[in-house]
Amino acid sequence: MEERKLRELLNSLSLDEKIGQLIQLSGEFFSAKDVSLGPQKKLGITKEMVDLCGSVMNVVGAKETHRIQDANLKNKKHPIPLIFMSDIIYGLKTVYPIPLGLGATWDPDLIQKAYRNTAEEAYASGNQVTFAPMIDLARDARWGRVLESTGEDPYLNSRFAESMVKGFQEDLPKYGIASCIKHFAAYGAVESGREYNATDMSENRLRQYYLPSYKAAVDAGAKMVMSSFNTLNGVPVTGNKWILKDILRKEWNFDGIIISDYAAISELVAHGFAQDNKQASKLAMNATVDIDMKSPCYANELKPLVTEGELDEKKIDDAVWRVLKLKNELGLFEDPYRGSSEELEKKSVLTPEKRQLARKVSTEAMVLLKNKNNVLPLNPEDNKKIALIGPYENEHELLGLWAVHGDRKETVTIEDGFKTYLNSDKLLTAKGTDILRDKSMFKGIGLSEEQIEKIVSSDSVEKENNDKAIEVAKEADIIVFAGGEHTIESGEAGSRGNLTLPDNQLHLLNKLFELNKPIILVNISGRPMILTDIEPKLEAIIQAWFPGTEGGNAISDIIFGKANPSGRLSMSFPYAVGQLPVYYSQFSTGRSVRTSTHSSRFMSKYLDIPNDPLYPFGYGLSYSKVCYDNLKLSSKEMNGESDKIVATIDLQNKSNVDTTEIVQLYLQDKFASVVQPIKELKSFKRVSLKANEQKNVSFDITSDMLRFYGTDNKLTVEPGEFNVFVGPNSDTDQYDSFELK
Ligand code: BGC
Repeated sequence: MEERKLRELLNSLSLDEKIGQLIQLSGEFFSAKDVSLGPQKKLGITKEMVDLCGSVMNVVGAKETHRIQDANLKNKKHPIPLIFMSDIIYGLKTVYPIPLGLGATWDPDLIQKAYRNTAEEAYASGNQVTFAPMIDLARDARWGRVLESTGEDPYLNSRFAESMVKGFQEDLPKYGIASCIKHFAAYGAVESGREYNATDMSENRLRQYYLPSYKAAVDAGAKMVMSSFNTLNGVPVTGNKWILKDILRKEWNFDGIIISDYAAISELVAHGFAQDNKQASKLAMNATVDIDMKSPCYANELKPLVTEGELDEKKIDDAVWRVLKLKNELGLFEDPYRGSSEELEKKSVLTPEKRQLARKVSTEAMVLLKNKNNVLPLNPEDNKKIALIGPYENEHELLGLWAVHGDRKETVTIEDGFKTYLNSDKLLTAKGTDILRDKSMFKGIGLSEEQIEKIVSSDSVEKENNDKAIEVAKEADIIVFAGGEHTIESGEAGSRGNLTLPDNQLHLLNKLFELNKPIILVNISGRPMILTDIEPKLEAIIQAWFPGTEGGNAISDIIFGKANPSGRLSMSFPYAVGQLPVYYSQFSTGRSVRTSTHSSRFMSKYLDIPNDPLYPFGYGLSYSKVCYDNLKLSSKEMNGESDKIVATIDLQNKSNVDTTEIVQLYLQDKFASVVQPIKELKSFKRVSLKANEQKNVSFDITSDMLRFYGTDNKLTVEPGEFNVFVGPNSDTDQYDSFELK
């Protein structure tokens, strides 16, 4: 529709119709049955407002979206199409590993392809917007939502933020889907890693570390932004004019839609920020929040606010304009189904090509954390018996909590994968134990007592499972233990205070250790876990995340050496919960354990645990041995901001196995007016090395890599000395220095 016509449409709408466009409701409001007594009554809004509602959340599937759209367009004075938005976070039907696993690929280009495929599935199924990517910087593994993040580093997160947004939106406006980035801002820094908690930090820290990934996503063209649940320095984001209006809209020129997180406008009252829903609505409107997700606020309060002269109707017009503009840009006025159909959906989802890409992504996401005596890869031709033991042995739930629309039946289990490599006489299997036996963990997620009873085996069945696993293990030469977290232990509202494997799995593992056989752990989890106690007793550890639809194949490809692991952690694995938040780019402090001359007690450290995580950011092994040598800088001086320095390093694959090495460049600004971290990732390269191949790798170091936010919170570069580190992970010691003149 021409812009002039769209304006005319806006001008012809009644206040109620306009408000309707600013309301988002979930699928249950549009059920074929009468909803007046159910969701509508519960939320406390009128039937008229439900009828005028402008967008629907979390309904997928061409059939259902068409039914709802048809009903919406019928008998309306102004038949404005609904827009369908959903949490399509790391795949719709073809599910990829959780984003923390995607972060571990260090392969933004590949992830862009994966997200493009997801956009294709979503488009065909009648969705036009996804609430993704979630690009909150995450440094506290207690927070269950680290699952949805690409990790702890602003630079790496920014690269993924761009590639994910581009992947979703590559084919806009005609195909693909619009991206709604979240949770703006700094939701990843909730205190103590507790979900829905407060965030408090200096503006300097916010700008330097927490905002860059959102900014990268906005610059990549994200159409929408979701305001987060948290308070930011005392002011809830959903009513925070400074962060939403001054920074996002004015500084960054974002003119897309801002949507609140789920019920976040009404929660301004619970925060103790607004005295009632009316004030909450006014605060959110003044902060330019356009759409109210699933709260009664805008539906009930905007009209009285306008008629009583407390809110300028122009603000509503501006918000509606942004909503209509997106609908128009996506072509919904011409085709309210936007090309989706049941037929196209069938053709688009879970195609062999999409599965193949998912397998590649999942393989790249695996991180080999330990491989003592090169126990891995296993050779299927060896005359050895392998026992696949543990609760994830033949489990279809490999998708993780936020793959809400994924079909578990379509998942390749680890056993399915193993069977493609091993004959049945060499493969022994036993579940051994449940994933989780603590029944209290299953409360509050809509399960009845009976359902929980079915999930958790009785004590006698558990004992039988344990015994059988031990018998099976006794017959084997090597044990692969497939364990980890239960799906419900991470994701939204999945904060935890203990990050070890569940007790029942530890109990079984300890019995298996007594057999003195090599044990390989395949760890399925939505977060970095504490593996400190069991690590010394394991021969090898593969961090497999929730690996997605093709998970079982990808794990098997790694275990049997079809693929050489190239994944590197994008979030540190803590040594103990007491370290959290733990991340590599810390400050030196006045008494660093590495450099201080104070007596050992009076340094910045713990008395009972080390400062360093068990596995640092950037870490991961492969089946090759790559040596880094001869780091050189093209000059010891950078003369002014337009100059550049080239850092080069020699890499040698001293093995007979081809590999992909993730070469990482870190910088340190040694002295600055605002203290800078001991190391910060500034660039990385994926370098493929054939067996025994040698390569020289180079990085350009430019002055924009040296910028930081000064005491005035503006970007600045200061002359002085910089250290340059190049290596295989953040713990690298190889460095050289130069001076910026
Ligand atoms: C989550 C968001 C999600 C929204 C809609 C909220 O509870 O915080 O990430 O997009 O629900 O499902």
